[in-house]
Amino acid sequence: MTTAAILVAAGSGTRLGHDRPKALVALGGVPLLLHAARALAGSGCVSRVVVVAPAGHTAAVAGHFPDGVVPGSAVGVVLVPGGASRQASVAAGLAALDDDVDVVLVHDAARALATPALVRVVETAVRAGHAAVVPGLPVTDTIKEVGPADPAGAAPVRGTVDRTRLRAVQTPQGFVRATLEAAHAAGAARASDEARAATDDAGLCEALGVEVWVVPGEVDARKVTEPTDLALAELLLARRV
Ligand code: C5P
Repeated sequence: MTTAAILVAAGSGTRLGHDRPKALVALGGVPLLLHAARALAGSGCVSRVVVVAPAGHTAAVAGHFPDGVVPGSAVGVVLVPGGASRQASVAAGLAALDDDVDVVLVHDAARALATPALVRVVETAVRAGHAAVVPGLPVTDTIKEVGPADPAGAAPVRGTVDRTRLRAVQTPQGFVRATLEAAHAAGAARASDEARAATDDAGLCEALGVEVWVVPGEVDARKVTEPTDLALAELLLARRV
């Protein structure tokens, strides 16, 4: 049996303010999705990567995997077009998995600097018997629950959450394949519209009653969303060489 990764790269990335999909935006001269694919391939535990490409950009994405493999590795790449939501894009990736895959890692291209070591930690925890595993970091901000905002944008505080019990979760998230497939089937039945689609796969598993486990995440696996995130990622990358 084997482990495959689904690399979701089909988001538009409007908050980043570029003229191309976020996954194709360059970080240190290399597109975000290629950084992420290299980390998956470099982990040594992923045999194949399903890249979920932005609609209308599959040719551009394919150009980054010229021999059908992650460059510099023997890890094969399959390309599929993405959906209207992240959940739909992961579902498209799941549908493209080979029969011999029993463990699936789902990774955001936007978490371009997650390391091969993090990929291994997640995969190992799944193989050790946890059906759903996510990397997570302690929350450093104080988190308030708020009510509806007034016309000026001020919102009343309803409570303060105990942050010692919180983790900000990242990807790659790892799953026993059958568990993730069941979670997606149930999630699709609950909500087919984009607005209600899940923002992570572990949430779909939780809704199914599956126990999800958190392993230590890493600062480098932070998601690139805003221009300042990209600037920070450039600094993190420069620190590596
Ligand atoms: O938009 P956000 O940054 O939360 O997206 C997280 C990841 O999901 C990104 O890597 C993005 O490319 C991917 N995504 C996708 N299909 C969508 C929306 C997001 O593959 N329709």
